[in-house]
Amino acid sequence: MKKILVIEGGGRPRGNTAKLVDAFVRGAEEAKHQVERISLIKTEIKGCLGCNACRYGKPCVIKDAFNDIAPKIKEADLVVFASPLYFWTISSRIKAFIERFYCIAEEDPNPPQGRYERYPVKDSALLMTAADNLFWTFEQAVSYYRFAIVNYIGFNDKGMVLAKGCGSTNGIPEIDKTDYLRQAYEFGRSVYSD
Ligand SMILES: Cc1cc2nc3c(=O)[nH]c(=O)nc-3n(C[C@H](O)[C@H](O)[C@H](O)COP(=O)(O)O)c2cc1C
Repeated sequence: MKKILVIEGGGRPRGNTAKLVDAFVRGAEEAKHQVERISLIKTEIKGCLGCNACRYGKPCVIKDAFNDIAPKIKEADLVVFASPLYFWTISSRIKAFIERFYCIAEEDPNPPQGRYERYPVKDSALLMTAADNLFWTFEQAVSYYRFAIVNYIGFNDKGMVLAKGCGSTNGIPEIDKTDYLRQAYEFGRSVYSD
């Protein structure tokens, strides 16, 4: 049994992204993992101010829910980032959430090249939906995930489900017409099966 924390970075309440997360969670719970979902629509997290007051080990000066979520990140085995594609990248809500990792960093006297501090080491995964269905649809989102979350923060990537061609927000969610819900379910079920 693993602890899985799903951070939902927006989208419509019954939209493509929520459905993709539902499918992942169903699979993960069937595999007996303990899953908690946090919606950044319901729980608003502000971006970092860069004041540096938090360096190192002191609490963040922004008094919002991130301070309650920080212990959940530290306890989780896997952090799943879920987002609709907005202007070719992750939603601003996920970005603001990631910026606040600044206040959970610990001093690292001997960091690897390109990293300046130490973060809790977790597994991570990316779940995304988009309207377009182009070969470069998720290029910037995946680039951000790989560079910021995996290479910089140091999380171990467990995989991604990148659901393209799910219909625009002008119309009803169309993810049910694709194979991605099955893929997300299978991913949730098998994420720790190896
Ligand atoms: C503000 C905004 C920006 C969007 N930008 C893109 C985009 O750059 N590329 C794309 O393929 N879809 C874009 N979309 C469409 C959504 O990513 C797509 O419809 C997604 O599945 C919506 O998720 P939801 O159903 O969970 O709300 C955008 C939608 C909105 C509202």
